[in-house]
Amino acid sequence: MRRYTGALPLLAVTVAISTAVFSENAAPSSKDEAKTGAIYTVEGDGTQVDAQTLAGWKTWRALACERCHGAEQEGMVGPSLIASMKVLSKEDFHSTIMNGRIEKGMPPFNGSAMMQKNWEGLYAYLKGRSDGKIKPGRLTEIGK
Ligand code: HEC
Repeated sequence: MRRYTGALPLLAVTVAISTAVFSENAAPSSKDEAKTGAIYTVEGDGTQVDAQTLAGWKTWRALACERCHGAEQEGMVGPSLIASMKVLSKEDFHSTIMNGRIEKGMPPFNGSAMMQKNWEGLYAYLKGRSDGKIKPGRLTEIGK
């Protein structure tokens, strides 16, 4: 076994790199939720979050919700989600983003695979914004 000792640190680095790449693309698990009971985890200055919440933020950005709700969720033609998330149930959130409220100008997103995969992370992200725990703007994953 002695001859492998030089290779082990290299292996560890390789695993760390592939984990980072994997979490950029893969569906997040909800193991953070199961472990802590919290819907999101935020650290540091409010810009580091768990993988699921990060995927939610990426979904927010990719689907351009800020066009109508504002870059900081403050509201534009759509309502302030900072305010909405304090009263909207998770079920109502889900049906609103999936089915939209077409006659009122909120489009449906059920055709988006990214939304289907990440809506709970998006819910967590917006709750964190509404709670004032997650900062607006760019986020990174805890420990990455
Ligand atoms: C084209 C503009 C537009 C876009 C894009 C848009 N929304 Fe909306 N959204 C609205 C409008 C307008 C309403 C208010 C509907 C109403 O009056 O009931 C709304 C309502 C909502 C509500 C319910 C708020 C409440 O208080 O009941 C949520 C949650 C929401 N939007 C989330 C999102 C998310 C997440 C995205 C991106 C995936 C998004 N919206 C994209 C226009 C938009």
